[in-house]
Amino acid sequence: GIAIGPLRKETGAVTFDPGFMNTANTTSAITYIDGDEGVLRYRGYPIEQLAEKSTFLEVAYLLINGELPTQGQLENWTTQVEHRSMLDERFKRMFEAYPRDAHPMAVLQAGVSALSTFYQDSLDPFDEEQVRLSSVRLLAKVPTMAAYAHRIAQGHALLYPDNRLSLIENFLRLTFGFPVQEYVADPVIARAMEQLLILHADHEQNCSTSAVRLVGSAQANLFTSISAGIGALSGPAHGGANAAVMEMLDTISAEGMDPKVFMEKVKKREDGIRLMGFGHRVYKNYDPRAKFVKTIADDVLERLGVQDERLELAMKLEEIALKDDYFIERKLYPNVDFYTGIIYKAIGFPTEMFTVLFAIGRLPGWIAQWQEMVHDPDTKIGRPRQIYTGEPRREYVDMAART
Ligand code: ACO
Repeated sequence: GIAIGPLRKETGAVTFDPGFMNTANTTSAITYIDGDEGVLRYRGYPIEQLAEKSTFLEVAYLLINGELPTQGQLENWTTQVEHRSMLDERFKRMFEAYPRDAHPMAVLQAGVSALSTFYQDSLDPFDEEQVRLSSVRLLAKVPTMAAYAHRIAQGHALLYPDNRLSLIENFLRLTFGFPVQEYVADPVIARAMEQLLILHADHEQNCSTSAVRLVGSAQANLFTSISAGIGALSGPAHGGANAAVMEMLDTISAEGMDPKVFMEKVKKREDGIRLMGFGHRVYKNYDPRAKFVKTIADDVLERLGVQDERLELAMKLEEIALKDDYFIERKLYPNVDFYTGIIYKAIGFPTEMFTVLFAIGRLPGWIAQWQEMVHDPDTKIGRPRQIYTGEPRREYVDMAART
């Protein structure tokens, strides 16, 4: 609504819109969402087609450059990224200095921030070549850092990237491989990872992307802006929902609770519990990403021969919800996070890594949105107004006179 600052008349008329529920901060040609119909497209292409046919780096190219690459462009782009996956040795020492129990998102954020110190030749937001280089460096080095953050927590040695492998195979090897053993990524797992990253690659003006744009609007460099996005994504209300789903499924299993009994508790809002992984601010229909994720879950579990009772439990909860008036009336459907945790667990990632995987996936979207902002002649420094509710002017009180 429109509100007038009650105490400072110079505030004038401003829109008061907590959470920016109704405020568009920008125009954008990158991602289209129709929440009522459950539609998501990158640069006009339906997410299902991209997840089916494309690779993560191809989607990154599309998001950043606006068009699908030709064969030559894709090869060039892929080579550029895959040949930059190494980190400076001092970088590794910096990583090794963090406590073992540090959250990998905190380590990743610090690492991305530190890119500004190592790559001072690509910090100028208005130099196209420098921006291209910093974008490629991020796409190449964030997966390496993510794998290192994981290995440090495990107490395992850090491996060197093998640039003969694809970005995703390399990431899997750096995460799960051992120094003296050859590691060959399972093609089903590598493809599943590729698809999950594609499904997370952009989601228009979500909290972390808005953070990237806001920091970038002050003309901060790309690395610094992306590290702000990682900070936003680390919040449980944004990137942490799949971990919350796993916790919920584990609790139901551990207590041997009947799924129907759990759902009754959700509907009665006992202890404020919600069905985690259900509902979305924008989607009031089946999240198109969730549909695809479910098929990936089936493929991966079958391939690994994993019988995870949590998958059956999740499917049971979904089945109950889709027939229940409480969920139907409120348009609550599974969101992208409902099944991803089950897949990540089956592949071998610990729960703390789930948000890190989200960050690797969202990286192309952050970069594309930041670049779009830099090129947009309408960009202004992000600087919201407020409605002041504090004290009116008053005189300083001497210490002796304070009560
Ligand atoms: N379980 C049970 N009831 C729910 C759920 C849920 N998961 N989600 C919403 N509701 C109910 C609310 O109680 C409310 O009911 P009421 O109108 O009778 O009071 C109604 O549905 C609308 O809910 P809001 O909270 O107003 O919807 P909002 O758009 O603000 O919330 C959100 C969206 C935060 C995602 C919510 O659905 C939720 O908490 N879901 C569970 C957490 C989750 O999965 N988050 C991940 C989001 S996806 C992502 O970040 C990648």
